[in-house]
Amino acid sequence: MADARYIGLMSGTSLDGVDALLVDFTAAQPRAIASHYHPYPAELRSELLTLCHASHIELHRLAQLDVMLGELYAAAVRELLNTSRTDANTVAAIGSHGQTVRHHPAGPHPYTLQLGDPNIIAERTGITTVADFRRRDIAAGGQGAPLVPAFHAALFRHAGRNRVILNLGGMANITVLPRDTAIPVTGFDTGPGNVLLDGWAARHRGTPYDAGGAWAAGGSVLPALLRRLLADPYFTAPPPKSTGRERFHLEWLEAQLEGTEDPQDVQATLLELTARSVAQAIADHAANADEILVCGGGAGNGALMQRIGFHLAPRAVHSTLHHGVEPQAVEAMAFAWLARQTLCGEAGNLPAVTGARHPVVLGGIYRGRLNADR
Ligand SMILES: Nc1ncnc2c1ncn2[C@@H]1O[C@H](COP(=O)(O)OP(=O)(O)O)[C@@H](O)[C@H]1O
Ligand SMILES: [Mg+2]
Repeated sequence: MADARYIGLMSGTSLDGVDALLVDFTAAQPRAIASHYHPYPAELRSELLTLCHASHIELHRLAQLDVMLGELYAAAVRELLNTSRTDANTVAAIGSHGQTVRHHPAGPHPYTLQLGDPNIIAERTGITTVADFRRRDIAAGGQGAPLVPAFHAALFRHAGRNRVILNLGGMANITVLPRDTAIPVTGFDTGPGNVLLDGWAARHRGTPYDAGGAWAAGGSVLPALLRRLLADPYFTAPPPKSTGRERFHLEWLEAQLEGTEDPQDVQATLLELTARSVAQAIADHAANADEILVCGGGAGNGALMQRIGFHLAPRAVHSTLHHGVEPQAVEAMAFAWLARQTLCGEAGNLPAVTGARHPVVLGGIYRGRLNADR
């Protein structure tokens, strides 16, 4: 089945690395065949972190990073193919999200910028590569994000239950899936997911993230700080909306600190910020939700999952693993699906989600090897 297998590459705002997933679309439900996680080397990660916040960027270095990430994504694909003993000729296409280094969907000349040159991925792997998904949606008047809701709907919509898919990546986003198919799917970024938790843990603990939320769980929430953080107008702004590191970064937190706080209590407060802002978004925009399915790396943060469950009770809150899909695989699977949509000439965006004027076929197509059997 040459046209049934796709590879999704997802590298999100956490800047942790790239999740590569081989997906089979033969059956009604897509099936993950193999996965490979390729972390960013520490030096690359720290350069990307700096780049995300720098007011001035050297164009030469930006172009080099575009190439370096393209090579890294191609290597991730090769490793995925090797470990799963898959012939590249059996893969119809790769869908590559790329690494966002700027996301400015509002204001004059709105834009979003992802690095990871797809020419290199196509050239090194010989596999047709679809990339640059977000900019067409922005050109059509949308936020360019989130793009995963159409896939969430295809995979998880249920005729008997009102579901919400919650993706806890660097940012957090929700997809509202009403059981009544006459009601459109909606979704938006709720605000920070792991990004502040990661940043604060790195600064005070020297670890890339707070495993299981254990450090946060040992601290006490600072109510006044939490109130000040929740007062950011992003949280109550109406959708469509999307956000990134441009808005939610450690300087944003520091502006609200008095300087005397215990770092562990700040971590507890940041965890509560994510839990509260997510729960508030669901209460405001999906009040009749029966269950919340959580994906993304944050699903591995037990303390965060527990607080989200607490705020959303009595609704059921659980990992997508309960529905047969690894939480870390969902977004990569979405980009495999989006690549397939593009090759089929089908739209990938949902105007009710992104605010685009119309549905549109997303991304650019970078053809793989000539004369391959596909
Ligand atoms: N065991 C864990 N405990 C706490 N947090 C975790 C755990 N595993 C992953 N994470 C979080 O998930 C993040 C990566 O999530 P991911 O879905 O890849 O986000 P993104 O799409 O932004 O790259 C990590 O940076 C970390 O914050
Ligand atoms: Mg990631």
